Amino acid sequence: MKLHGQTIILTGSSSGIGEQAAYQLSDLGARLCLVARRTEELERVADAIRVKGGEAWVYPCDLSEPASVNACAEAILQAHPRIDALVNNAAHSIRRSIQDSLDRPHDYERTIQLNYLSAVRLTLRILPRFIEQGSGHVVNISTMSSQFPIPLFSAYIASKMALESFSRSLLAEFAHKGITTTVVYFPLVRTPMSSRTAIYKHERMMTVERAAGWIVEAVEKRPVRVSSPVGVMGEVALAAMPSVVIKAMQPYFRKRDKRLKDRLAKG
Ligand SMILES: NC(=O)c1ccc[n+]([C@@H]2O[C@H](COP(=O)([O-])OP(=O)(O)OC[C@H]3O[C@@H](n4cnc5c(N)ncnc54)[C@H](OP(=O)(O)O)[C@@H]3O)[C@@H](O)[C@H]2O)c1
Repeated sequence: MKLHGQTIILTGSSSGIGEQAAYQLSDLGARLCLVARRTEELERVADAIRVKGGEAWVYPCDLSEPASVNACAEAILQAHPRIDALVNNAAHSIRRSIQDSLDRPHDYERTIQLNYLSAVRLTLRILPRFIEQGSGHVVNISTMSSQFPIPLFSAYIASKMALESFSRSLLAEFAHKGITTTVVYFPLVRTPMSSRTAIYKHERMMTVERAAGWIVEAVEKRPVRVSSPVGVMGEVALAAMPSVVIKAMQPYFRKRDKRLKDRLAKG
């Protein structure tokens, strides 16, 4: 797929991977509808794109609010007669054990609201345009953490796996009508999101530029999945030998977190 002239809706484009993806997609000639809450940050990204001759429009929206999602989708549909792709990238991550979440069911509700329900709502709003056009692509951003049995991210991982499941259903129902989906399984990426976890300071991470390249690949080539080989191996192993893999991974993550904590304490 040539990206030149394609109109792409990109949520979570005011920082991190989404911001970088906006620049890379624009460099390839795509026209960007930038969606996030912080208007000033979105304007900063749009200005950087326009300075280089690209096209970008800013759609401030709190994706946690259904009414805000509806209004945002309406504004985009009104302004753009053709939409080629939607990238559901905005998300919130929570690193907290289930033990520490016993009185925090709202963690699960908030996470599923933004990471899953808002992405579904926006997709459902844009889908009629894709059906009318006979083409369209939805990229849903997930995490390598859903390819392994990882502790401390139960609310976040469940929300991402729900989104993966929705992607699969979309493909099953619409692929023959020219509407396709990609799930992107990022490993840890150095962004404001991952930087909120102090012990990750010394962990090796993917660069935001490389991660943005995965989104470009997803929009351009439209594969069903963009993942690291390690992630794919994790999925295969988990499907084939769930008990063995789950048992083997538990001490690995305890040791890793201890190593990262010790390293952080040393400065
Ligand atoms: N970083 C990692 O290690 C990592 C690993 C695996 C997967 N991922 C996934 O990669 C994607 C991008 O993450 P990132 O690391 O780039 O995160 P980030 O830098 O924290 O960016 C998150 C983006 O989502 C937007 N957002 C958050 N809440 C929103 C809301 N209620 N309404 C609208 N927009 C909202 C933020 O913009 P505003 O604050 O302006 O609203 C921001 O643009 C996410 O889906 C994340 O789950 C990240």
